[in-house]
Amino acid sequence: MSVPTESGRNRPWGTGFNSDFEWNRLNPDAYFRKNYLIPHRNDLVFLAKVRDFFGEVLGWRRGLHGVDVGAGANLYPALAMLPFCDRLTLLDYSEANLAWLRRETQAYTGTWDPFWAVLDEAPAYAALTRPRLELRERSRVEFGSVFRLPGGHWDLGTLFFVAESISSSTAEFRLAVQGFLGALKPGAPFAAAFMENSRGWKVGQDAFPAVAVTASDVAAAVAGAENLEICRLDAGPNPVRAGYTGMILVCGQKAQART
Ligand SMILES: C[S@@+](CC[C@H](N)C(=O)[O-])C[C@H]1O[C@@H](n2cnc3c(N)ncnc32)[C@H](O)[C@@H]1O
Repeated sequence: MSVPTESGRNRPWGTGFNSDFEWNRLNPDAYFRKNYLIPHRNDLVFLAKVRDFFGEVLGWRRGLHGVDVGAGANLYPALAMLPFCDRLTLLDYSEANLAWLRRETQAYTGTWDPFWAVLDEAPAYAALTRPRLELRERSRVEFGSVFRLPGGHWDLGTLFFVAESISSSTAEFRLAVQGFLGALKPGAPFAAAFMENSRGWKVGQDAFPAVAVTASDVAAAVAGAENLEICRLDAGPNPVRAGYTGMILVCGQKAQART
């Protein structure tokens, strides 16, 4: 199957640059139902790893400004930053996703309770007794592109299934990771997740692109960051998102500025 581009040329589905796709067509409710309505084991494993990493690096630090870039219809990266942040910015490039995020952050549904239950096992999270209310009060939803973020702006950040899933260009994959890391302050902790060997993804009839990355591509893209931990999980027998071989998580800290 091929789809026409704005320039009128045809391309195979799942291929194209970020600007070739109509991100406003992405249906957040369908995406959410497909990916998060029933928690996937791999997401919960990643969430526990991010919890432990942020807990270890940040301890009882509070009052940070966090960012989730390309947040889409997923709240668990934002929840993983919540105890440490008094401001949380959720950025996305799709107006449809921004509307979903504005609604969902007001009083998130019970779907996110199993995700919070994983976080709640660690003291920093357990100390936050009203996460629904805290998310509403601390979060702001804003339009933004990973390719045009301000430099050195945020204290803590997440980038989940974005850099490899918004273009089929390897150059844009690297630029997205660089844009994300560039937007963090020196020393800022971060977590980023990637689909492994994805060839593109669909929500309903709408097809979106991907770059087929492996753990070594991810390691190369974040080279220069510090305190890195990379984890890879197999897709397993019933992958929630078809057409990939596994999921990769990298946690780390942006390199400290040289003096
Ligand atoms: C595969 S979804 C991932 C959504 C969510 N982070 C998750 O974990 O499920 C990719 C997201 O990237 C967003 N996106 C597309 N182009 C973008 C851009 N240039 N900058 C930031 N986000 C973008 C899409 O709107 C979508 O929400």
